[in-house]
Order: sequence, then structure tokens, then C-alpha cells
Amino acid sequence: LPTEPASKCIGVFDSGLGGLTVVRRLMREMPAEDIVYLGDSARVPYGTKSPETVRRFAHEDAAFLMRQDPKAVVIACNSASAVATESLRAELGVPVIDVVTPGARWAVEAAGGRPIGVMATEGAIASGAYQRAVALAAPQYADRVLTAACPLLAPIVEEGRSEDDPIVLSVVHDYLHRMQRDRPGALILGCTHYPLLQGAIAKLMGPATALIDSGQATAVAIAEFFRREGLANPRSGGGQLRCWSTDNPERFERLAGRFLGRAPQSVQWVGADELTAAESPVGGTP
Ligand code: DGL
Repeated sequence: LPTEPASKCIGVFDSGLGGLTVVRRLMREMPAEDIVYLGDSARVPYGTKSPETVRRFAHEDAAFLMRQDPKAVVIACNSASAVATESLRAELGVPVIDVVTPGARWAVEAAGGRPIGVMATEGAIASGAYQRAVALAAPQYADRVLTAACPLLAPIVEEGRSEDDPIVLSVVHDYLHRMQRDRPGALILGCTHYPLLQGAIAKLMGPATALIDSGQATAVAIAEFFRREGLANPRSGGGQLRCWSTDNPERFERLAGRFLGRAPQSVQWVGADELTAAESPVGGTP
């Protein structure tokens, strides 16, 4: 019998480990859902690469996930969401959810008429995707978006430095002190890694700037979408998380806990060159 759409898994991909911060929010909002996660650790970072390259990688990642027969695909990477959402929507044939739009909407609600800040990778900022998403949500904000590209922050998080580390505080200060002077009402954490630096960012920006976790905004938006469309998994128990990495699964497993909030149960390897193979290398469940 064909599987009921609601009981199918959610496919989630990111350039590496960072998207697990989005998975963590998805699991909290929708504990019954099965999630298949692909981290393209062999080709991370996406945030410094050209839109064409990131788009190609994103389509390859999504092709792998489509072989798991998901009910929806989540682009849990801001850099990929910024440049590949439209083309993936045109190609996949299942709902494609990006992490840029929900965060932009939350920021508009939280900003209280003051400017909106966005911090993200070089690629995500250069694409103008956040600026467009904010303007679409609220045209009056079109020229009131302040941006900061913060290329050093994702590697700093992966290195495991804590939020009160002087190096972290100094890099955060360097990237954000100009924006801080403009007193934005909301600041979008527009990169998967930044929720782990929330304390350091809040310390610099002060209590008058609401920090918007784009992964959290996305998880809430997806839960609403599933309820509306009858796509929420009806089971009463908890769902399963299965992780795939295009690079060494050991490193993935070692670092994943920091992003996910707990150790992942199963991490398997798939070669980046196998992502688009016609036959699934996956077979059954791991
Ligand atoms: N996942 C990426 C993002 O959210 C950060 C890491 C990278 O540059 O690939 O933009």
C-alpha cells in the first residue's frame, strides 16, 4: 500500500552540521515526525561559494533526500535557502521550505517600527534574499534592513569556543558594533550556527534588540503548514532522526551534539558523488 503522506518523513539538508540547530527546533515543535537529515560536510562551507555552485550542491542534496520519499524538504541552510529555494520549488514536486522567509516575518513583527538587522554568511547577505523577504513581508521596511556578513563566526562555533570566550566576544563586536549603534528592533540570526552564539550577540546588542532564531521561526511555520494541510504525523510516539553525512561520520557524530542538543542516534556516510545516483544507496532503514 502507498504510504499516507502524513506518515512520511521530513527531508532536511544543510551544508554540514549547522542545520542540526534547525532539526532541534523541528523536533521540539513536532516530536512525532521522522526526519532524514543530510549534512554535506564534504563540501562545507556554502556561505563563501558562488550562487551557481551552492544551487548545484542544493539540488544534489535534495535529489538524495527525494529518494527517501519525504512529504516535504527543508532547506536548513540560510546560504542555500538564499539562492536555491525557487529552483528547488520548481523541480521537486513536494513542498520546499526555506529558512529565510519565516525569520524575516518574525523580525517584522518583533521590530516595533525600528530597523531590522540581519547577520549571515557572505553569500546569504550578497544574495539580497533577506532584504527581499523582509520587503515582501512589510514593504515599509524595504530600505530599513541593516546587514552584516560574519564569515568567521561559523568556523568559530565549529571549533567549540564558548560564548564568553574573549575571541568570540571580540569577533562578534567587530562584526556588529556598527549595527548596534543603529539600534535595530530585531536582529535575524541568519545562519545555522548563530543560535549557539546567542548569549554573546545579546550581550553586545542589548535587551532592546529582539534576536530572531530563523530555525525556530521555520519550525513553527512548518508545524502550522502541516496542521493546515493535514500533513502532521498522527502517531502518538516519538519520531526517528536518521543522519547522513558526505564526510567522515565520526567527526559529524562528535560535533553534532553541540548543535542538536543531544547525541544523534544514527549517522551514515554517503559520497557527495553518489547524491544524484539514480539508484538509492540507502536501501531500507539503517
Ligand atoms: N549552514 C550555513 C548557513 O546557514 C553556514 C555554514 C556554511 O557556510 O556552509 O548559511
